[in-house]
Amino acid sequence: MFFFFIASVFAESIVEQVNNDPTSTWVAVEYHPSIINHARFIARLGHTISQIPAEEYIYRNDVPESFDSRDQWPGKILPVRNQQQCGSCWAFAIAECVGDRLEVAGKGQGDMSPQDLVSCDKTDQACNGGEFDPAWTWTRDNGITTDQCLPYVSGSGRVPQCPTKCQNGSEIIRTKVNSYKHLTSNEIQEEIIAHGPVSAGFTVYMDFQFYRSGVYKHKVPIKAGGHAILIIGWGVEKNTPYWLCQNSWGNTWGEKGHFKILRGKNECGIEQDVYTGMV
Ligand SMILES: *[C@@H]1O[C@H](CO)[C@@H](O)[C@H](O)[C@H]1NC(C)=O
Repeated sequence: MFFFFIASVFAESIVEQVNNDPTSTWVAVEYHPSIINHARFIARLGHTISQIPAEEYIYRNDVPESFDSRDQWPGKILPVRNQQQCGSCWAFAIAECVGDRLEVAGKGQGDMSPQDLVSCDKTDQACNGGEFDPAWTWTRDNGITTDQCLPYVSGSGRVPQCPTKCQNGSEIIRTKVNSYKHLTSNEIQEEIIAHGPVSAGFTVYMDFQFYRSGVYKHKVPIKAGGHAILIIGWGVEKNTPYWLCQNSWGNTWGEKGHFKILRGKNECGIEQDVYTGMV
């Protein structure tokens, strides 16, 4: 009980701190616990971010001022999902990046399977987290199957053994990516324009849980962990440049499951851990 009391007082103070600051570029809210609470927030962070230093970001006028993959490729960007109480963000980020890119390339198979990576990629730690270099290497060498073949079942944190058949008993068919690469700050935009969303990791601070809308920039200096998401575009809101990101915490969190984060300043390391696979 005491823990929950502390956690709720803490939440109230963070939400007020963000919303009462006239310089704040984002709005915070205390969510219903069914959407997110402290324990759920911590359980979902499962990503180790790359320590490759970020290149200085250069604002360019040869790329559009704003870009949203959903407008660029209508119906091809797969919907927001929910990893629930498992640190499988890394698997969702890769599955969604591959899924969207297959759709964009006209080879769409619908949602790809984060469960395949959670259960089968032995170079990462399932619900306890993952890292892009080994997980993309795994996806390149072994491939990833569809969500229809292996639906997500690790929302409770339970991880079944790597299955030998699809859920319906048919053969597992995996799609390999041809290659994968790390992108520097200045390669992200051209890569998205050319082929679709990219996967990215960042350091999460305690206030991120309460993000509702606007351009996120951390205000609370306490780190909570690492998280992986998709960058699907960028833009400028009230003179603040941002990356447009798709999270995997369901569509009732943030801006219908999405969030914006400050662009150009390597905010929370968002520009130093960007990877993509070539489908
Ligand atoms: C079983 O699932 C696979 C993969 O989703 C699918 O291709 C196949 O058509 C399904 N088979 C049957 C008999 O439903």
